[in-house]
Amino acid sequence: MLSRVARPVATAAGLGRSFSGSSQCNAKVAVLGASGGIGQPLSLLLKNSPLVGELSLYDIAHTPGVAADLSHIETRAKVTGYLGAEQLPAALKGCEMVVMPAGVPRKPDLCTAHLFGMTRDDLFTTNASVVADLTEACARHCPEAMICVISNPVNSTIPITTEVFKKLGVYNPNKIFGVSTLDIVRANTFVAELKGLDPARVSVPVIGGHAGKTIIPLISQCNPKVEIPQDKLQALTERIQEAGTEVVKAKAGAGSATLSMAYAGARFAFSLLDAMNGKEGVVECAFVRSEETESPYFSTPLLLGKNGIEKNLGLGKLSAFEEKLVAEAMSELKASIKKGEDFVKNRK
Ligand code: NAD
Ligand code: LMR
Repeated sequence: MLSRVARPVATAAGLGRSFSGSSQCNAKVAVLGASGGIGQPLSLLLKNSPLVGELSLYDIAHTPGVAADLSHIETRAKVTGYLGAEQLPAALKGCEMVVMPAGVPRKPDLCTAHLFGMTRDDLFTTNASVVADLTEACARHCPEAMICVISNPVNSTIPITTEVFKKLGVYNPNKIFGVSTLDIVRANTFVAELKGLDPARVSVPVIGGHAGKTIIPLISQCNPKVEIPQDKLQALTERIQEAGTEVVKAKAGAGSATLSMAYAGARFAFSLLDAMNGKEGVVECAFVRSEETESPYFSTPLLLGKNGIEKNLGLGKLSAFEEKLVAEAMSELKASIKKGEDFVKNRK
């Protein structure tokens, strides 16, 4: 069983813990987009967790097969597959958490000059409607659930989710999360590589948003403290900001990060489930509604609790280099947020 090889991971607070969750509970968790490149391995990790009592798998294709396959695994989570819009209400009923990797990834058309120039924002045309439709169903059928959105562009899909929940009168800012955990996972890995450390013991907060220069790693707040000369710091920061593109290029037309994202999505889900279960001191970064900067949404370390965000821990003390990165991210962040908000306002 996978739990035998599970190892501790470092949370943003620097606390080690078992990856599949530390205690047992019976949460009903839905994965929307469960048949996809992220959805399948993410569902596998969730099925392996003692924190999950019921796993509700929804997609517009292949969910009966994915659910049948996972249901044979010798762990206690009950797995059910739901296919197509008419089965979505049943998939969501009673859910305490929804994790959403539905929608298209960066998958450049090999026949066009657009090959590696595609940005996450180019996904907006398709994914804005996918996220608006799915979050509308969440607002109707599980309005109290924690909503964890992986679908890109996260800098716009979280404002979309907020506006949809507001429209239906069930908005709670403490329960809507843009999952940016992969940026933290990458920052931990790359810093550990550079300094010869165990990545499971490295914890780098990553703030801002989830696209290019809006991704702001706070190497000055790394735990343990690391000294990195300015030229290497610049290169490391750019590598973290462009790590998604590094994977898109390496996959050469076959999509974007899936396995590392499944790991990161599961890490975030387990942290949140642990906190919902009453575990104290659980901290993760996520892209949320925020008053910490001039941007109305911003990722910072968050103290999680039974009802979602318990306290926003803010940006902390930044180096001059990091302050400049924050300033440079603002205009792109605000434009992506407005684009998401306008999409819902102008929608019939
Ligand atoms: P994929 O194409 O492999 O899978 C997407 C799945 O979504 C498919 O199974 C598809 O059938 C399903 N889907 C599409 N429309 C749907 C709808 N209306 N309802 C339910 N399901 C629907 O893509 P992927 O590689 O798994 O990536 C999914 C999304 O995650 C992309 O938008 C990608 O950019 C994003 N992503 C985000 C991060 C992050 O850090 N937040 C990291 C990697 C990828
Ligand atoms: C990532 O960071 O890997 C994702 O946002 C996918 C992408 O398009 O880069």
